[in-house]
Amino acid sequence: MSAYAVTLIIIESLLLLVLLIFFIYKSVKLSHLINEVILLRRNSEKQNQVQRERDDFLAMLVHELRSPLSVMKGASDLMLKDAQNLSKEQIETLLNQIKSSSSGMLNIVNDILDISKLESGKFEIVKVKGNINQILIEESAYYVPMANSKQIKINNNVDEKLPEFEFDPDRVRQVLKNLLSNAVKFTAENGSIELRSELRGDMVTVCVCDTGDGITDDMKHKLFHKFVQLNNHNHTKERGTGLGLVIAKGIVEAHGGNIWIEDNNPKGSKFVFTLPLRQA
Ligand SMILES: Nc1ncnc2c1ncn2[C@@H]1O[C@H](COP(=O)(O)OP(=O)(O)OP(=O)(O)O)[C@@H](O)[C@H]1O
Ligand SMILES: [Mg+2]
Repeated sequence: MSAYAVTLIIIESLLLLVLLIFFIYKSVKLSHLINEVILLRRNSEKQNQVQRERDDFLAMLVHELRSPLSVMKGASDLMLKDAQNLSKEQIETLLNQIKSSSSGMLNIVNDILDISKLESGKFEIVKVKGNINQILIEESAYYVPMANSKQIKINNNVDEKLPEFEFDPDRVRQVLKNLLSNAVKFTAENGSIELRSELRGDMVTVCVCDTGDGITDDMKHKLFHKFVQLNNHNHTKERGTGLGLVIAKGIVEAHGGNIWIEDNNPKGSKFVFTLPLRQA
């Protein structure tokens, strides 16, 4: 082979090498570009989801605050316009409507404040030594009239031997209020609810069982996320804000406990939460 041919082969090989390096460089750049596009898409999907959640929340909030405000306006308008012609009982009914509507609104506002405290890590509990059974019985008694109106029976099955221990009574009441109100709301007429307490190892365990429609496995953990609600509102006229279980989870976890959902046998759901008997 002549020196000329060898030089040509070397030049060709060098050219091929340069071309190869160029393509590798371009394909690396291209894959970077593709990754960036994927990342941008993901971020914008996330932003869209946050925006959608914000819009849903605002729509829900407006809806939830509008009805009690309308009731309050209607009742106060009537009293201002027709005060002389209203009987004492009628005025009392109107005042009660204003009172229950304003407490409903206050509950929503308090829930939103609790969520923002939980999210910013500023949520605090104040523990005192107390008897949890007493709180369970008092809270279940509070829901008896609401349950009676749907012919739902509430049975208490508390472990009398539970020792006193330290917990935040107001916050534990808040957890029970949500679990009991959910059980009454989402259980059909003639159903039943059971409230149970027992000691499992070092944990005091509380169960709220109902004979409602139950919750499918894929939704069990999702219900502890903000604003998640099932389409099971056929047993209730009230909608709620979908914040109750998130707050309940925050309260139980602030005590060092856990909360979860199980199936109730033969029908319905069982909400279980635990609180440590001793301080860590
Ligand atoms: N015992 C239950 N049986 C069936 N579904 C339930 C039960 N408890 C909760 N759920 C479902 O979980 C959703 C979330 O419950 P959560 O208590 O967080 O919100 P809410 O009751 O809708 O509103 P809020 O408690 O904020 O007033 C409910 O809307 C309902 O769809
Ligand atoms: Mg609720």
